[in-house]
Amino acid sequence: MTAEPLTATDTSISAKLYERAQRSLPGGVSRNTVLRSPHPLYVDHASGCRVTDVEGVEHIDFANNMASLIHGHALPAIVEVVGEQLVRGSAFTLATEIEIAYAEHLVARSPNFDQIRFVNSGTEAVMGAVKAARAFTGRPKIAKVEGAYHGLYDFAEVSQTSNPTNWGDSGRPQSVPVAYGTPPAVLEQVVVIPFNDPDTAVEILDEHRGEIACILIDPMPHRVGLVPADPEYIERLHTWATTDGALFVLDEVITFRTEYGGLQARYDVPTDLSALGKIIGGGFPVGAIAGRREVMEVMNPLADTVRFPHSGTFSANPITMTAGLTAMKLYDRASVERLNALTIRLVEGIRGVIAETGATACVSGTGSMFRVHMKASPPRNHRDALQTPAEAAALRVVLDHLFDEGFMMINTCSGTLSTPMTDTEIDALVTAMRTALVRAQDV
Ligand SMILES: Cc1ncc(COP(=O)(O)O)c(C=O)c1O
Repeated sequence: MTAEPLTATDTSISAKLYERAQRSLPGGVSRNTVLRSPHPLYVDHASGCRVTDVEGVEHIDFANNMASLIHGHALPAIVEVVGEQLVRGSAFTLATEIEIAYAEHLVARSPNFDQIRFVNSGTEAVMGAVKAARAFTGRPKIAKVEGAYHGLYDFAEVSQTSNPTNWGDSGRPQSVPVAYGTPPAVLEQVVVIPFNDPDTAVEILDEHRGEIACILIDPMPHRVGLVPADPEYIERLHTWATTDGALFVLDEVITFRTEYGGLQARYDVPTDLSALGKIIGGGFPVGAIAGRREVMEVMNPLADTVRFPHSGTFSANPITMTAGLTAMKLYDRASVERLNALTIRLVEGIRGVIAETGATACVSGTGSMFRVHMKASPPRNHRDALQTPAEAAALRVVLDHLFDEGFMMINTCSGTLSTPMTDTEIDALVTAMRTALVRAQDV
């Protein structure tokens, strides 16, 4: 996204802050996701599912800091325990009991988790899982889905932004770098497979037998269209991995919110490792690598051979652990079910207004996540997800209208729900979506 130059007429506080920010931050931001035209909005405070910007305007928050807040903002129970921990200290070169309690809680949420290691971001969790898989198998390569976002690790980001000029044949997608200067060796070690096409994926994987450390899969990749992986796809990839001696690694950094034990609970296959992040931090930076004891053992510093030495200055800091444990205890089975049911109400509502307005649009997603596409049906893979200029223009109109009506969305027109939401916010979004879709038809 590009920011337009500020106009002299924009005298808002946010505009002034952005002008100042551009002097010391590249592009005026610390993360590209907050950029919007003509300038980012700056927050004053937030509570529950409502965010108030520095102009005093209130927004209903369906972005939830990029899907990372499950209870919205400033949940009193989290504020209280974090406040108590803050006065006792925020980081020590010593272990804390709270990290054990939180490890026990998360491990109990999935039969696929025997042990867990905390880190500080989803990027680090994915990187740690990949390195653990390499250490366990002694193999260098990884396989990943074309278009899937897994954070910033060189290997995991390959082909995330590939496009028609460089993605090659659909039967053999090219390994395409994201960042300039990515070493060619990185590209050689990443096998790119198409989403939800088990035959082609297995054909490609067969060409790398005995070389792949892990298949890394996000079971509902947001950038690829926020469509859940077909059970057959997951099963075929898992079978291939186990037969070949590779590990099956799920990136559940976003999707863990879907079920009490993550989206993997809906599939009939065990996983070797999972990367977690976002909601498990209770509003603070976090990541985690969870998985089978035998695999997690590569990080055991007491082993005769430590195959993957693993550390992190702020890993398992007591602030994140306290907030995370409180948040996840409150996100119990009943809470997951309630939020998923609320999301069904929203998705059905949006489908209703799509039908009513005759707009060319559709909704994908599952659990407490949804994405609106200006396409007749949800994309099947990364190539299908590419927007035409007309689709992109229509989506811009929808997003701008929703924003003007007071709704914060992720800029792909995706959203996530938070537990403070009720029918009121859901029905309000459906109403705003109706006008947005009508407007988009005039583009
Ligand atoms: C599926 C997935 N994996 C990994 C990441 C990286 O997480 P983080 O931004 O915490 O590094 C993200 C972030 O959006 C993600 O969506």
